Amino acid sequence: MAHLLLVESWVGAMGTLLPRALADLGVEFTFLTRRPEHYPESLPDGSPHPLRRGRAVVTAETNDPAGALDAARRIHAEAPLDGVLTSCDYYLSTAARIACELGLPGPAPEAVEIACGKARTRAMLDRAGIAGPRHAIAPIDDRAALRAAAETVGFPLVVKPTDLCAGMFVRRADDWATLETAAGDLRRFEVNARGQRRDPVVLLEEFLDGPEFSVESWIRHGEIHTVGVTDKSLGGASGFVETGHMFPADLTDEYRAQLVTAAEAAINAIGLDHGVVHTELRLTAAGPRIIEINPRPAGNQITELIRHVTGIDLPTVAIELALGRTPQPPTLPQARQRPRSAAVSMLVPTEEGVLTGIDGATAVADHPAVVSSSFKAPGHKATVGVDNNSYLGSVITVSHERTGARPLAEQLLSSISVTYAEVLAR
Ligand SMILES: Nc1ncnc2c1ncn2[C@@H]1O[C@H](COP(=O)(O)OP(=O)(O)OP(=O)(O)O)[C@@H](O)[C@H]1O
Ligand SMILES: [Mg+2]
Repeated sequence: MAHLLLVESWVGAMGTLLPRALADLGVEFTFLTRRPEHYPESLPDGSPHPLRRGRAVVTAETNDPAGALDAARRIHAEAPLDGVLTSCDYYLSTAARIACELGLPGPAPEAVEIACGKARTRAMLDRAGIAGPRHAIAPIDDRAALRAAAETVGFPLVVKPTDLCAGMFVRRADDWATLETAAGDLRRFEVNARGQRRDPVVLLEEFLDGPEFSVESWIRHGEIHTVGVTDKSLGGASGFVETGHMFPADLTDEYRAQLVTAAEAAINAIGLDHGVVHTELRLTAAGPRIIEINPRPAGNQITELIRHVTGIDLPTVAIELALGRTPQPPTLPQARQRPRSAAVSMLVPTEEGVLTGIDGATAVADHPAVVSSSFKAPGHKATVGVDNNSYLGSVITVSHERTGARPLAEQLLSSISVTYAEVLAR
């Protein structure tokens, strides 16, 4: 039986999708984490959480790359490892380094480091001559440098951290006052949710106007296989919260080809040569522009949309690649039995308060087009949605119409009403 090292994990969807794929493939895993208590013990039905169903849970300081490597070596000595993987962005570089040091399959660690640093990605794409937004970086404490960076980029611009995810602290600024507020908020967030000290810089980018998409691919021996293009709807308080996705994206073949070409050029430019990749782009009037390249399967249930439509399970592909295998094409169900589109819609809170109920959730779950839905339980404390961590739930629909799934998901979600016990002072 193959043995995989799982270095930390997301707690959300990928926290169960990756272990499910491991179980389906019959691959054993050891879960390496600095804080087992960060992860749930069990599922809502009381059964053990899939992350705890591996060979062992080993505790080591994964925030120290050398410490994580030592722990991996010890595990490898005891029960030889065949691959290393993580679903959590904050450990992608560490997982790639461990695989490289142990001589196991994996992406070039330098390429993963470039992908995981938004400023490094921008610099590398510039060097490769790939058109992108104007951008500049400033130390988080240096007001003069921030002003100079804003002058280089010009308004409207996007203020962002180089090392976070889920849209955290990504804000549009149309003027200096908004920029200063956004940079101030970022300055106060010195340590991420996994206890890692953050890069004390702020990245400013020209605001790229246009609809947003992601290209889902996998790479083996440097050869890129693109599975398709997903579209993204945005909203929430920042305007950048992902409120839904549909696969395949509602696009002309020409635009689809442009997006795929742009994503593949960017993947090559940063030297990413192995694993599953989720590349985000905006389709501007001047053509596709890269937002970022994530060297991991897409989150927010996108891999589930793709699985329903194509039969390809990208978490499974990620595991096969980590083990050095060639991903197997899907067998069942037959293509004609699969839906032609799948969509997810997220319930984003518009108020702060303690949830007392989500009315209409049962009717949504029972709708024939719904393949899964989940909502927060009463007692959950909602905050106004400024990033992708604030969702109150989601619904996934499928349709036999090529663009049918999104309107269904949106319509079903709009039938839900959320009640709060109290409205907290803003
Ligand atoms: N230069 C830009 N122009 C326009 N919109 C942008 C720009 N940069 C980021 N955004 C918007 O902000 C969102 C979040 O930015 P980005 O993907 O860089 O952050 P993130 O925290 O890694 O997000 P996630 O982990 O959710 O993918 C993007 O999906 C996009 O909608
Ligand atoms: Mg992103």
